[in-house]
Amino acid sequence: LSRQSFPKGFLFGTATSAYQVEGETHQDGRGPSIWDAFVKIPGTIAKNATAEITVDQYHRYKEDVDLMKKLNFDAYRFSISWSRIFPEGSGKVNWKGVAYYNRLIDYLVQKGITPYANLYHYDLPLALEKKYKGLLGRQVVNDFADYAEFCFKTFGDRVKNWMTFNEPRVVAALGYDNGIFAPGRCSKAFGNCTEGNSATEPYIVSHHLILAHAAAVQRYRKYYQAKQKGRIGILLDFVWYEPLTRSKADNYAAQRARDFHIGWFIHPIVYGEYPKTMQNIVKERLPKFTAEEVKMVKGSIDYVGINQYTTYYMSEPHPTTKPKDLGYQQDWNVQFGFAKLGKLIGPRAHSTWLYNVPWGMYKALMYMKERYGNPTMILSENGMDDPGNVTLAQGLHDTTRIKYYRDYLTNLKKATDDGANVVGYFAWSLLDNFEWLSGYTSRFGIVYVDYKTLKRYPKMSAQWFRKLLKRNNK
Ligand code: GCO
Repeated sequence: LSRQSFPKGFLFGTATSAYQVEGETHQDGRGPSIWDAFVKIPGTIAKNATAEITVDQYHRYKEDVDLMKKLNFDAYRFSISWSRIFPEGSGKVNWKGVAYYNRLIDYLVQKGITPYANLYHYDLPLALEKKYKGLLGRQVVNDFADYAEFCFKTFGDRVKNWMTFNEPRVVAALGYDNGIFAPGRCSKAFGNCTEGNSATEPYIVSHHLILAHAAAVQRYRKYYQAKQKGRIGILLDFVWYEPLTRSKADNYAAQRARDFHIGWFIHPIVYGEYPKTMQNIVKERLPKFTAEEVKMVKGSIDYVGINQYTTYYMSEPHPTTKPKDLGYQQDWNVQFGFAKLGKLIGPRAHSTWLYNVPWGMYKALMYMKERYGNPTMILSENGMDDPGNVTLAQGLHDTTRIKYYRDYLTNLKKATDDGANVVGYFAWSLLDNFEWLSGYTSRFGIVYVDYKTLKRYPKMSAQWFRKLLKRNNK
């Protein structure tokens, strides 16, 4: 495997997100996001960690960009913190925040690293949550488009690769069904969730996310694209669901799971409506697109990012395990096909959801090719984690991660050989960082971070990438 194994012009990068790496959440005029409020609730985050400092990329971005360069990466996928630009979500601009992204982008360009800017990675301005219940409020569509447009206007002379939202499915499902992500809403009082309605809210939120995405894309295409010559898309997470057996029932379970997962977002974007399985199961709780909205949503990507980490078996449930009407909760179980997740595949990473199943990558990409017209794709996240409490020596010796990357990249190459239109790959992540609920108890980096000194130490996997990506490699 070498750089030359991949199609001509194929590009390699690493990915991060603002909240997970920047730190300085209260400084230089940044307004709070829903995550700042969420992490303060005792018991939500492992060891009650916060992201106030995390890996301090806000001050150490030069060092990090230099690292990317040294490791032979071509691109950097980062996200912009909405409340750093608009502390209130809309209206007044925080120019110090703008200046930070200008510094970061300028330095990337100066070093020859292509910026991939994502506009939203879970961190909604808290002011909008207070003003109109955030993503549940229809106003968010326009506020997001205004924020996006400000970014196109301000950074678009240098940023040619835009993404609107990261993993909208996760936002809807974890933020509004089981309540384990901000803003922590769900209808069944477990954990710290505030009172919500799981039967309807995930669908309302995802509908708004799709419309906000499409509205931002419309602005970009109308006012900026011709001049700036960039492209715009969305980032979707894609767990591959494999039927447990070859039975018709298990096949249907797996198909349902895919429709509730990737189909929820890519289906409207490619075909202008939600998948039929979703329509049939969710019925009137699933919002509808008006004719005008269909026009805006359909075709609203120049490219699409696929975050692919893992694969699960799906099977039809035993009839007696079927729950009564639990609203979204029921659909969610349908999503997992009522499968016993005990039947898992491959070795597990540190995270309980992450199993190393490289062939799932191949199947997911071929599915995008066959079912969704083979859009231009980037593999926008892939990686695995180690526990947080390893020593530096243990952390650096990450041979399991090298194997993970080699096996997944081999499958990605196979998919491109078989015609999947993938043009780039981003490892998650450049650095160990704030891993949402797991805080600092999970390390996804190819570079180790000592959280006491914030010093960066490239792991063996970073050296592996450096060699793989060498230009004169044979
Ligand atoms: C995402 C992911 C990342 C995670 C990574 C490892 O939504 O893109 O949640 O932010 O850190 O997937 O879990």
